[in-house]
Amino acid sequence: MRQYIVAYQGYHSDTIIKDDQYFLLYTVKNLLWFSFPNFTLFSKELTGVEDNSIIRFANRMDQLPPYLFGMINKMKMDKRRNGDDVIDLGMGNPMDPTPNAVIEKLVEVAQDPKAHRYPESSGLPHLKKEIAKYYDRHYNISLDAVKETYFTIGSKEGISHLCLAIMGPGDSVLVPAPAFPIHIYAAVIAGANVMRIPIAPETDFLDRIARVCESCYPRPKVLMLNYPHNPTGVVTDKTFFKEIVTLAKRFKFMVINDFAYAKITYDGYVAPSFLEVEGAKDVGVEFGSFSKSYNMAGWRIGYCVGNEKIVSALGQIKGYFDYGIFSAIQVAGIIALRDCDNTIPELCKTYETRRDVLCSGLERIGWDIEKPKAGMFVWAKIPEPYAQMGAMEFAIQLMNKGNVAVAPGTGFSEEGEGYLRLALVENEERLRQAVRQMKKAMEQMKV
Ligand SMILES: Cc1ncc(COP(=O)(O)O)c(C=O)c1O
Repeated sequence: MRQYIVAYQGYHSDTIIKDDQYFLLYTVKNLLWFSFPNFTLFSKELTGVEDNSIIRFANRMDQLPPYLFGMINKMKMDKRRNGDDVIDLGMGNPMDPTPNAVIEKLVEVAQDPKAHRYPESSGLPHLKKEIAKYYDRHYNISLDAVKETYFTIGSKEGISHLCLAIMGPGDSVLVPAPAFPIHIYAAVIAGANVMRIPIAPETDFLDRIARVCESCYPRPKVLMLNYPHNPTGVVTDKTFFKEIVTLAKRFKFMVINDFAYAKITYDGYVAPSFLEVEGAKDVGVEFGSFSKSYNMAGWRIGYCVGNEKIVSALGQIKGYFDYGIFSAIQVAGIIALRDCDNTIPELCKTYETRRDVLCSGLERIGWDIEKPKAGMFVWAKIPEPYAQMGAMEFAIQLMNKGNVAVAPGTGFSEEGEGYLRLALVENEERLRQAVRQMKKAMEQMKV
């Protein structure tokens, strides 16, 4: 069975049409498009689920489109099962090793039976102290380790649960778009309305926030930020964060900054923490991740720091859902924060070299590329006339004809149409090969 859902600016209504009523669907879609160009309509398969079935899901499930990376991964796995060597630039899932010292500590602590009990859910006291020291050392920010830090099972989990704690039906959230999916869907799952704001350029972005806040009632409750930004690679500076704090105080919204790519920066650019700005702690929090800085994506460890009340709300809701992170991972996390600053420049160099290889390769085959200054992705505009086929179709054809997996820009909302996101996770040789295969695939595409 197939169901159809109407979406407006990231907010998805209840299911409106079922059972392949194509004509009605077509009419509805066109009527909506005429009156509201921001409406989209997508469909998904609900295998085996009937209205009169015992197995029925919550309405909020209807608001979730199939997860982009899930679809891309499935196509990739199918091809690999058939013996194809797919070059995977789809997901930002690092393939490089975790620092040795961190692994050794994990193994050592895992031998201790005491480490296997339920852990301290907000984070081991030493780990909390270590993140406070880290923020002091890197950003000159003073944090109360007990009240202003909280460890999460990756930043994605933390952001999701924080949204459940601070927003609900009737609340609105401002999200820069295109967006990393959870920035939109954590709010959708919490029942809040999402208002997408195109991310660039900066002054425009600030003006739009002010205009939305002036014209909406009730006013937006939360602004979700993500600098360095995934997927676009847009970066920012402290002046921008100062303006954000001023707006937050004027219009009384909270700020969440997702700082997952804090340390992956190039060309001498240093990404500021949102908390570096005076008054930031009065209005918001920042999430950080071990996944990218230390290649620990599968370990599931991240943190939330900043406003004491927001951190405490996160702790309160998480108390109902989980018991925190395996203690051995937490102790290994102390080693990462304390002893692994020296591994980061090398990691950045690796990504920077890959970025240069991929960008110059794409330029050579006729793409107009802007090199990112941070993050682990290249946000690439699909050249004409290929852009007309749409990012999703282009990505599917690259996979089918070129054995290269990429993320279509539309997976990050409509603002990503016309773009692909290419992750810098494969080595230089594979990236060169990817460009060759992309060129060949494009030659075979009918445009
Ligand atoms: C912007 C952004 N935030 C959060 C995450 C997830 O981080 P974690 O592994 O800490 O949950 C990612 C992962 O790709 C990301 O791109």
